[in-house]
Amino acid sequence: MGILNRFRKENSKPDIKMDEGVVIEKLKHSYQVVEEYHVQKPHARIKIVKAPELGEGYHYFVDETQLTPEEYDTFRRIVGVLSKELEPPEDPDIKPGEYVFQQAERVAEKYHRSLGKFTGAGWRKIFYYVVRDLTGYGPLHALMLDPNIEDISCNGLNTPIYIWHRKFESIPTNITFTDEHVTNDFIVKLAHRSAKHISSAQPILDAMLPEKHRLAATFMKEVSTKGSTFCIRKFRADPFSIVDLIRIGTINERIAAYFWLILERKKSFMIIGGTGSGKTSLLNALLSLLSQNDKIVTVEETPELSPPVANWTQLNSRQSFQFGSTSTRSIDLFDLVKVSLRYRPDYIIVGEIRGEEAYTLFQALATGHGGLCTMHADSLDNVIKRLTSPPMNVSKVYIPLMNSALHIQRVELPEEREGLSFGRRVRTIWEIEDFGLYLEMATWNPASDSFDTWFEDSFLLKQIAANAGTTMEAVLRELDARERYLREISMSGIRDQREVAEKILAYYSRRREAMYEVKHPLIPSEAANVAKVVENDLPEEEPAVVRAEEELEPQPEEGEELQPEEEQLTPSEEDHVPGIDEALGIASEKDHEPGSEVELVESTATLKDGRQIRMWRYPAGTVDPETGEKIGGRIARRET
Ligand SMILES: Nc1ncnc2c1ncn2[C@@H]1O[C@H](COP(=O)(O)OP(=O)(O)O)[C@@H](O)[C@H]1O
Ligand SMILES: [Mg+2]
Repeated sequence: MGILNRFRKENSKPDIKMDEGVVIEKLKHSYQVVEEYHVQKPHARIKIVKAPELGEGYHYFVDETQLTPEEYDTFRRIVGVLSKELEPPEDPDIKPGEYVFQQAERVAEKYHRSLGKFTGAGWRKIFYYVVRDLTGYGPLHALMLDPNIEDISCNGLNTPIYIWHRKFESIPTNITFTDEHVTNDFIVKLAHRSAKHISSAQPILDAMLPEKHRLAATFMKEVSTKGSTFCIRKFRADPFSIVDLIRIGTINERIAAYFWLILERKKSFMIIGGTGSGKTSLLNALLSLLSQNDKIVTVEETPELSPPVANWTQLNSRQSFQFGSTSTRSIDLFDLVKVSLRYRPDYIIVGEIRGEEAYTLFQALATGHGGLCTMHADSLDNVIKRLTSPPMNVSKVYIPLMNSALHIQRVELPEEREGLSFGRRVRTIWEIEDFGLYLEMATWNPASDSFDTWFEDSFLLKQIAANAGTTMEAVLRELDARERYLREISMSGIRDQREVAEKILAYYSRRREAMYEVKHPLIPSEAANVAKVVENDLPEEEPAVVRAEEELEPQPEEGEELQPEEEQLTPSEEDHVPGIDEALGIASEKDHEPGSEVELVESTATLKDGRQIRMWRYPAGTVDPETGEKIGGRIARRET
């Protein structure tokens, strides 16, 4: 009886109104819950539901733990104290949420007598709300925490907040802004957090929130009939790497290998597709295939690209704003592309081309720079039409300077993949041979969710072969080798953008080193033989399943490799690159000093990456004093 009474009492507690001017619908038992997960355990849970009374399709319900009236009272008082007492953190790197949590704990301890008595769980609930409202996004906090959400939009007063969910696409939430002033205040706060300004005088805002989310907003009814609106496009703190995109099927290893070759040769390409189709993410992922020595300038409206290279200048446009008498001129992409030319970059990368900056970008291509960009368009024809008409005004003869184009799209999948029935796929890749002459190099097959590629017919690869003085077969073999290498990287579990870039770099430096040694054979006719002998002596490798890091180094297959222009080799020398490298590696492990017992072949040499090495060859008949092994004839090297 007592228990039941208590239960009734609990249940009949008046509801706390956490968020003035915002309605958060409660979940009903009759709803069918399709999926459920926590975004912050145990305080914020998400339920995706279906219910006839809610209308067609899925609905997104945020379910946060509720405060009791006593907890709510304490929450209000802590927020009051913190609003007055909060000092800037001493540690500049601390996350705002973490800092506020610590400070809330401090206040709770300091005023523990007057703040009331709660269990540990009760306190944590209170602190959750303190963080949610002081440094989080208040009623939208749970949405911001949900990694499945790509964007959040408020289309006006009294209409539910919509989200774009990775799995369920565009669906309404149980959250609705119902009060004009509250909505306006919310937007003004978001604007201030982005260090921008929104008002009736300047009712349109395009800004970036501190966590790099993109914010677009309109103010009051100036330009939007249903009152203030906003859209937050969430930034992925951890961007997709090329390995991620391969894993989720957006592209495959062969296509990535193709763009790796293309990027190495400073060819230009553009990525086209609809809004949110994944253009920027794909471009950013492909940037990890850039050569580390390239000089890159990125030009964007909001900084989204992060090429993992050191020599990188990042330029961002600026809106004009006016306060009182001072005014500043806006600086747009056109201005920035122009100035970027002065930086003499290997690549100019324009986040999204829309206007006359396209003209300048093509001028840059005409003067020998590489150029990459994305463009919002649904077909290549459309792209070319827009490029060649005002305001872009690119001359038709300039069109083939953009060597290649990729079309990315959100598509329905023939079969679910990782629980998703749709995905983003590179639909088509073209090479632009001339104005009106576009050759398909790859397409996505919607029946099998795989790619068909025809890189054997690529005129760009032929061009690359011709410029490098090698054959198309050699380039295609290199394509194969890189495809394999990328497969190994993704099999090894590496996925982080920077780590991938390091692996790409490893491929180059390893090969360059091998090239140097082959190009400067210590004893021209013997080098290959030495390598052969040592190769035969090598212990058998363990079967390659998932290999350890160092084994991921590129192991060029027998056969020709694509050479940088200045380094032409004959096929017979190249055959033995790995052997020589291993021979050198083995001997140098022994760490013999070049001295009286050895014959010094070449005192020092500088590798392309600047390292100095010393090389020597053991005379015939030399025996390793430690192991008794015959090492006569072997070549050793040592870094100096
Ligand atoms: N290949 C992909 N697979 C799944 N989600 C993706 C993919 N590429 C991008 N996304 C997600 O889609 C949203 C929009 O991506 P973005 O690259 O900004 O598109 P766009 O530049 O075409 O507008 C982001 O939330 C991003 O995380
Ligand atoms: Mg984009």
